[in-house]
Amino acid sequence: MCGIFGFIGNRNAAPILLEGLRRLEYRGYDSTGIAVHNSTIQTYKRVGKVSELQEILPDVIEGHKGIAHTRWATHGGVTNENAHPHIDTNNRLAIVHNGILDNARGLREKLQSKGVNLISETDSEVLAHMISIGINSGQSPEDAVRHTLNRVTGTWGLCVLFEDHDLLICASNGSPLIIGQGDGENFVSSDPHALTPHTQNIFFLEDGDIATVTIDKIQISRQDGRTSSTGMTILEKEWGESDLGEFPHYMIKEIHEQPEALRRCISGRLDYPNGSAKMSGLRVSPVDLRNAPHVRLIGCGTALNACKIGALAIEELARITALSHVASEFRYNDPVINTKAFHLAVSQSGETADTLSAVKEIKLKGGTVHGIINVVGSTIARKCGQGVYIHSGPEQAVASTKAFTNMVAALLMFAIKIGRTRSFTTERGRVLIDEFNKIPNLMDEYLQNSGPIDEAVGLLKDAKCVLFLGRGLSMPVASEGALKLMEVAYIPCLSYPAGEMKHGPIALLEEGSPVVVIAPNDKHKQKTIASMHECKARGAKIILIHEEGDDEISLEADVSIAIPSCDNLLTPLLTVIPTQLIAYKTALVLGCDVDRPRNLAKSVTVE
Ligand code: M6R
Repeated sequence: MCGIFGFIGNRNAAPILLEGLRRLEYRGYDSTGIAVHNSTIQTYKRVGKVSELQEILPDVIEGHKGIAHTRWATHGGVTNENAHPHIDTNNRLAIVHNGILDNARGLREKLQSKGVNLISETDSEVLAHMISIGINSGQSPEDAVRHTLNRVTGTWGLCVLFEDHDLLICASNGSPLIIGQGDGENFVSSDPHALTPHTQNIFFLEDGDIATVTIDKIQISRQDGRTSSTGMTILEKEWGESDLGEFPHYMIKEIHEQPEALRRCISGRLDYPNGSAKMSGLRVSPVDLRNAPHVRLIGCGTALNACKIGALAIEELARITALSHVASEFRYNDPVINTKAFHLAVSQSGETADTLSAVKEIKLKGGTVHGIINVVGSTIARKCGQGVYIHSGPEQAVASTKAFTNMVAALLMFAIKIGRTRSFTTERGRVLIDEFNKIPNLMDEYLQNSGPIDEAVGLLKDAKCVLFLGRGLSMPVASEGALKLMEVAYIPCLSYPAGEMKHGPIALLEEGSPVVVIAPNDKHKQKTIASMHECKARGAKIILIHEEGDDEISLEADVSIAIPSCDNLLTPLLTVIPTQLIAYKTALVLGCDVDRPRNLAKSVTVE
C-alpha cells in the first residue's frame, strides 16, 4: 500500500529517495514519484514501477532534501496526475500523504470556490493547497501544517517539503510515519524496513504528533501544540531487507524459510517440564487466564485464517469459548467487550488498519488486547503494548506464507498455555510440546520432497473455479490455500467446510472440476472421505493433502500429496505448505507476478 520516504542531509537526495522507494515496493503500489529541493522543488512522478520512474529522471538531480511516495490508489484512478508528490499552485511546497481524508470532497469544493485549480482527483492534494494558504498568510511551516490538519478528518502519514525552508514537516494520525535519526542527516519513512540501511535510531510518531525535521534536529510536538512524549526506539537489526539468494522469488524463498522461522518462533517458548508454553510478552496471570470468560481473536486475510485455527485449538485444549473475528467488521458491529475476556490481535505487518481499529475499539470499551505480531515496533504492537512477536523475519512477498505458520504456532502455544491453566495435565502438555519440537524438522523433510505439486498444478491451471475443502482445524487451512491461489494466480477459489459443500457449492462441480481436500488422519477423516466421494460422483478431480502412510484416503485421490505424520493439533503447520507451493507454481505457469500480485498491497493501511 502507499509508502513514504523522505531525506534531509548533505548528500544528494535523489538516489537515497529512490533506494527508499525500492525498499517500499514490497508493500504493493501502482504509481510512484519524488520531489527534490534544489533552489526550487522539482517533481517527477508516473504510473508504474520505481524502475519506470527512474527512466524519466535526469541523470543527475541536485538537491539535499526531498520526499518520495509509492501510491496504491484509493481516491482517483491510477494516473500520473494522481501520483504523489502533490504540489501547491505556485510550486512552493510538495506533499506526500498516506491514509484517507474523510472530508476531502467538501475541502476540494471550498478550495475550488476560492479559485484553486486542483490538478488531481485525490483527497491528498487539498493538503498541499491548504498548507500553502497558511504559508502565504505568514504562518510558519509547522503552524501551517498544524492548522491544516486541524481542519481535516481522517487518517494521515504526511511529509511536506518547502521551497523556502530547510526542513521537512511530518505528521501522523492513524497511518504510520517514522523518523530515522542519522549522523548529520535525517530520514522519514512509513515503514521501518526502509530505514534499516541508514539508522536504527527511530521515532515512531504517535497519532496526533507533528515533527519538524532538519539536518541535525528532530522536534516532535502534539497537533494541539502540547509537548509530545514520543521517544527514540532502537530498531531491531533483523528488519533489514533480505535478498533472494538462490531463489527466483520471495514467495518461494519464504515458503522454504518456514522451518527456520518456526524454530525462531518456538525457541525458548516450549516448556517441556511443565508441559506448557512460556510467553513472557503476555501480561496476564495464570489466575486471570483461568478465569477469562472467553477468548476473541481478530485479524484479516491470512491472519484471520490463523485466528480461526487458534480459536479451534484454544476451545479444544482449554475448554473455553474462543471466537475469531473479521477485523474489518469488528468495530462496526458494536461488539460487547467483557473487560475480563482475553483478546488477541493477529497481524504480520502490525499496520493493518482494520485490525488496528478493532484494537482501538476494544481498548475504548475498557478491554485489553495482546498482539500476535511479526513486525517489531509496528503500530498494532505498540498500541497493544503487550503480546508476542512471531519472529518470522521480514516477509517481502505480498502473499503471506512464513508469517502464517508462525502465527499458527504462536496461537497453538497460547492454546497449550491457557489449556494448562484450565483443563489438561502436564503429561498431555509434555506430549504436545515434544511433538511441537519436531515440526521444524518435519517441515524440512516435506520441503525436500514436496510430492506431485506439478500434477496438481496441471489440474488447476485452467480451472474456472477451485473448491478447497477441510474439516475442523483443516477448514481454515483450506481457506488459506484458497486465499493463496486466488491472490497469486487469480483463479476464483471457494473454501468450504467439507460437510457444508453438499448444501450449495456442489452445484459448481462438473466433469474435471478440481477440488483440493485437506484431510489429515484425524477424527474428521471418515466424514471427509464421504465428501470426497460426493465430489468424485460429479466428475470432480481430487487433489488431496494427507498424512503419509494413510493409504485408506490417498487411494481415493487423483493427485495425493503426503505430509509427514504429526500430532493432530499441529497438522495445520504442515498441511498448509503444499497449498502454498501449489499457489506459487500455478501462478508461475500462468505467468503471474507472484511476489507483486495485481491490486494487492502487503500492508493494508486504510480501512
Ligand atoms: O499484515 P497483516 O497480517 O495484518 O495482513 C492481513 C492481510 O492483509 C494479509 O494476510 C493478506 O490477506 C495477505 N496478502 C495474505 O497473503
